[in-house]
Amino acid sequence: MATSGANVEPYGQGLGVVIMAAGLGTRMKSKRAKVLHPVAGRPMVLYAVELAMKLAGYRIAVVVGYQAEDVRRIIGEAVRGRAGGDSVVVVEQTRQLGTGHAVLQSRSAFPNGGKGLSEFLILNGDTPLLTEQTIGELRRVHHAQKATVTMLTAQVDDPTGYGRVVRRDGGGEKGNRAAADVLKIVEDRDATAAERAINEINVGTYVVSADFLFSALERLEPRNAQGEYYLTDIVGMAVAQRRRVAAVQLSVPDEGLGVNTRQQLAQAERTIRRRLRDRWLDAGVTMVDPDSVWLDADVVIGQDTVLYPNVTIEGKTEIGEDCIVRSHVRLTDCHVGNRVEILDHCVLRESLIEDDVVIGPFAHLRPGVLLRRKAKVGNFVEMKKTELGEEAKANHLSYLGDAKIGKGVNIGAGTITCNYDGVHKHQTTIGDHVFIGSDTQLVAPVSVGDGAVIAAGTTVTKDVPADALAIARTPQENRAGWAMKRRLMVERNSSDAQGAPAGTAGGNPTPSSKARRR
Ligand code: UD1
Ligand code: MG
Repeated sequence: MATSGANVEPYGQGLGVVIMAAGLGTRMKSKRAKVLHPVAGRPMVLYAVELAMKLAGYRIAVVVGYQAEDVRRIIGEAVRGRAGGDSVVVVEQTRQLGTGHAVLQSRSAFPNGGKGLSEFLILNGDTPLLTEQTIGELRRVHHAQKATVTMLTAQVDDPTGYGRVVRRDGGGEKGNRAAADVLKIVEDRDATAAERAINEINVGTYVVSADFLFSALERLEPRNAQGEYYLTDIVGMAVAQRRRVAAVQLSVPDEGLGVNTRQQLAQAERTIRRRLRDRWLDAGVTMVDPDSVWLDADVVIGQDTVLYPNVTIEGKTEIGEDCIVRSHVRLTDCHVGNRVEILDHCVLRESLIEDDVVIGPFAHLRPGVLLRRKAKVGNFVEMKKTELGEEAKANHLSYLGDAKIGKGVNIGAGTITCNYDGVHKHQTTIGDHVFIGSDTQLVAPVSVGDGAVIAAGTTVTKDVPADALAIARTPQENRAGWAMKRRLMVERNSSDAQGAPAGTAGGNPTPSSKARRR
């Protein structure tokens, strides 16, 4: 989506936006309101909200109903604190009596019930592929043709489920129909066989003059197959009043996709993901195999970063420049600096990675990890709520949780922070330039002072002062000849057993030849 022209209002002040998002979405067969289903990680309704916010800083009314509190919260979180966020107002449609009824509920959201505005832009909350350019064109045509209603249409191969655009020539054939006057919109379930054969559909995006909209909505009647107040009936009403109805037909019909089913959700997902990949390719990101890269809508990626096949970057993740992300990596809500290398099969969530860090393969960073500059986290290391200092290393087989680890520290293979006593979590603090030997357990709460050394295999249960050596393991004893004696004993036992009857230990292989060789 382009961002040009944001907040530029060529037609004078006076646009109000209404987004319809109150429906359950029965055809989704879901417990969740349709508009909350994510497309490329972003709840569907937010596509309409983002689009509306790009157009202008005017009042934007979002009509919610089904799971209203959740929808309200998601919208609030998305717009709070942003420029133009204050212009977004949520209104409730307590009973979902149809799209016409939904828009009527928005009147209270506009100062003076919308008097003083020149026009309304009405968007379905389930049409996430629409672009800003298309809305611009719709508004341009509305003004150029001095229309009362300007609607967006699309020619599609399979119009099933959509409202059909009935034009004056009455037929369903293609050709120059698009030039003929629009008479009305007829819903799929109310259409005659001839009308069903029309493959020009109503996208569900309209510009309607303010002096007409609410008075027309007040006159709607639910006389149709669904017993609902159809917004689409205002088209026929405008025609009956000899007002001008204009239509803009999409050149790329995909954009008009309305998501009513899971199939359509998957289709929207495919298109948006392709757009997102194209956007970042165009911005200077290399993708070795773009089709296998999954990027969420709010992801940001720096120039000359390289993504290998099967990488998933989710949520609000930001990646800097010149990074390398190898295959089968998943990043969720992470902030990654520049020149970071993430090797294959890593899962990183809600973590902050500074510049020049190397991670993986097979590392798992859970929420709250902070890796300082040039730190290294290697194979089979799990971390949680832990800071690893500049140039510190945890290269092999470790669990580091609730810890603060200083600069230049070496965490030996197999080190475990024992942060949980079964009831509470406790903190481990490790100073700068500490050497933690392999297979160390740090029983938290515990701290290790700067420059200390922990001997391999130590269970640290007491604080270690700076520059000290901590060693806690059973002293080693070497018993001369013990192993040889044992071998001879095993050999003797097995040759005794060979004389024994079948079915006893005599079935075991004899180690004698091997024992002798050693
Ligand atoms: C609607 C149009 C149809 C068009 C299609 C495009 C009507 C009557 N029909 O049909 O002509 O081809 O969109 O995708 O408008 N909603 C409410 N309150 C309600 C009912 C719906 O807020 O009482 C919201 C829904 O949450 C949704 C939007 O309005 O975001 C459209 O509703 P939906 O039920 O999907 O309408 P369609 O049958 O798709
Ligand atoms: Mg729909």
